Amino acid sequence: MNKNVVILISGRGSNMQSIVNANIIGAKIVAVISNRPDAGGLAWAQERGIATAVLNHRDFDNREAFDAQLQQVIDAYQPDLVVLAGFMRILTANFCLHYQNRMLNIHPSLLPSFKGLHTHQAAIDAGCKLAGCTVHFVTPELDHGPIISQGAVPILPDDSADDLAARILTVEHQLYPQAVADFVTGRLSVQDGKVINAQPTDAQNKLLAY
Ligand code: GAR
Repeated sequence: MNKNVVILISGRGSNMQSIVNANIIGAKIVAVISNRPDAGGLAWAQERGIATAVLNHRDFDNREAFDAQLQQVIDAYQPDLVVLAGFMRILTANFCLHYQNRMLNIHPSLLPSFKGLHTHQAAIDAGCKLAGCTVHFVTPELDHGPIISQGAVPILPDDSADDLAARILTVEHQLYPQAVADFVTGRLSVQDGKVINAQPTDAQNKLLAY
């Protein structure tokens, strides 16, 4: 049986597109939801017949009220999995716990380094030679949950933050659909705050090929 997947975006939604385009066996993308009415990814999803919804965070007095309503909108689609794909909102603990072990995020750094915003410039400023992205389960602590997969790229001498972001984004587009596929096939389980895989996941197999 297909697992229902709800994707949350705030912008262009290129990660959302990579997941939709992957046509993941066992996953049905039931809705794309944005907190920004002008998110470019909404039109892309609509053109493909995917249900979309907008919940503008500016219409709410506080985070708790927004998250409570967002939870209702999401749960109307009966999700098995919620995927944060460039969803640029800090989420309340209650919201995170409601979707415990069934909500994923992608973050453009090699966690636990460089949480939060401006990750690419931060990695360049620190003199790092590698940067990358991390797919992880979402917990109440920001950019901190159990890590599912990571991909690394070199930082080149003259890189701008935009150059590095573009290089990492191509890896994001590989890792995130693989992580969703690993989730829907039941290959991911969390023990003691770590993701334990009985067998290598698709994401790991891809890296083992290097
Ligand atoms: C991606 O690089 C994603 O990793 C990042 O925002 C971008 C969204 O791009 N997410 C975060 O920074 C979350 N803290 P997209 O809208 O094209 O997928």
